[in-house]
Amino acid sequence: MNYKEEFLKLKKEKNAVLLAHYYQVDEIQEIADYTGDSLGLAQQASKTNASVIVFAGVHFMAETAKILNPGTKVLLPDMEAGCSLADSCPPDRFEEFKRQHPGHIVISYINCSAAVKTLSDIICTSGNAVKIVESFPKDQKIIFAPDKNLGGYINRITGRNMVLWDGTCEVHDILQTEAIIKLKIKHSDAKLIAHPECKAQVLEITDFIGSTTALLNFTIKDSAKKYIVATETGILYQMRKASPDKEFIIVPSDETCSCNDCPYMKLNTMQKLYLCLKNERPEIILPQDVMDRARKPINKMLELS
Ligand code: 13P
Ligand code: SF4
Repeated sequence: MNYKEEFLKLKKEKNAVLLAHYYQVDEIQEIADYTGDSLGLAQQASKTNASVIVFAGVHFMAETAKILNPGTKVLLPDMEAGCSLADSCPPDRFEEFKRQHPGHIVISYINCSAAVKTLSDIICTSGNAVKIVESFPKDQKIIFAPDKNLGGYINRITGRNMVLWDGTCEVHDILQTEAIIKLKIKHSDAKLIAHPECKAQVLEITDFIGSTTALLNFTIKDSAKKYIVATETGILYQMRKASPDKEFIIVPSDETCSCNDCPYMKLNTMQKLYLCLKNERPEIILPQDVMDRARKPINKMLELS
């Protein structure tokens, strides 16, 4: 069966929309109605008039789409598509952490569960995190969760002292400075660009730091011809498409592998996309009160974005 053709047919019949994150495999990004970073996907999900959203991303993203558009059926092709950051922050432990830090407001990275969102004052993504943090007075006590690398980066550039939850993205946190320095020596004419989920030591030696969309836009506008890219491989599809004359070198996650794939993002396949739309499951279902409470901090973020 040609899953791509059959999926596109069904998408039309069912008035569905395909939203895909930049870390999806090329063939999914190719046919998506919208491909973007976490912020762009949340914005699209909140305004679509489609009857069904097929979310080619991970669980917290599909959950966010459902919260922002509760009247629309949201399908996630593989329910196992989780996220190490979201998993690092169980709501019960987070509630206890909050209790240990009275007087602090909570800014949570969108990579967390709906339950953690209900415990947050405002949400941010890597695309707007600095702006969101800066919207609070300098002396405001803040808990930032769950990514300690992103939180540490914001602390350094804003001069804040936010309390950080101890979570990391397993895909970005594994990238090592040694491998990057080797690449920098080999490609001395290349610029190093990195996602803020990388470790501080990596970010320190980086020419440009930004969300997935910001990294893509930088490579389009910047004059260099070569880039060493410290993030997930999926974004290379868009970078190469937008700048076919430029060279992109991905930072390897270890000596034996030149790839750096998010195992959760890459669970989605064309076949699973087709099957989930055909069967209309797995579907994201959330209790009404959880959606109502989680929507408030997400909407606050969208208003500021
Ligand atoms: P952005 O989409 O905000 O760049 O975040 C990257 C990521 O790791 C998503 O899970
Ligand atoms: Fe989570 Fe990292 Fe995968 Fe993004 S890339 S979904 S943060 S594990």
